[in-house]
Amino acid sequence: MELKEVIRNRRSVRSFSSTPIPKTILEEILLSANLAPSAGNLQARDFIIIEDKHIKEQLCAAALNQMFLIQAPVVIAVCANQKRIAPYGTRGKELFCIQDASAAVEHILLCAVDYGLEACWVGAFDQRIVSKILQIPPEIIPVALIPLGYSTKKSKASKRKDIKELVHRNHW
Ligand SMILES: Cc1cc2nc3c(=O)[nH]c(=O)nc-3n(C[C@H](O)[C@H](O)[C@H](O)COP(=O)(O)O)c2cc1C
Repeated sequence: MELKEVIRNRRSVRSFSSTPIPKTILEEILLSANLAPSAGNLQARDFIIIEDKHIKEQLCAAALNQMFLIQAPVVIAVCANQKRIAPYGTRGKELFCIQDASAAVEHILLCAVDYGLEACWVGAFDQRIVSKILQIPPEIIPVALIPLGYSTKKSKASKRKDIKELVHRNHW
């Protein structure tokens, strides 16, 4: 797919079939995720692949009962790594590692479209509980949960503000 077409076709999908994702596709998606830019190329991000139903159920409960987290055959937890970004001090810890992880999230979402998969960026969850469920060590922050899978329902494109409302020229 052309990049513009991928961008245009991406949308948050919240309903999944049980069709499994081929291992090779999942691997390609993860490789693409880490092709995203990162501060100093430190790649301060980690990925946890969750396929276990019981863990997905726990994640769902920690994420306002967003049931599609259980439905999706795979959930990827994208984490920011404050340890790996340490050379950048406070700005690295508070900002860069989150940006590294977020850039990877967007790559995952776009790559999923290219493989005919659907996904959703889920950020509404209790960080402390998710960290506990996934046994995430200190200095690692779960940034997003991404349910990934096939869907029969294609969501409608959501509206955007007129770009003129968001763009400032030369100064605010
Ligand atoms: C930081 C962030 C957190 C989000 N958290 C959630 C979430 O917890 N649950 C959900 O259903 N969608 C979540 N979304 C998806 C947005 O609702 C969605 O991107 C937005 O409504 C625009 O729709 P679209 O992605 O289909 O273009 C999140 C998106 C971002 C960027």
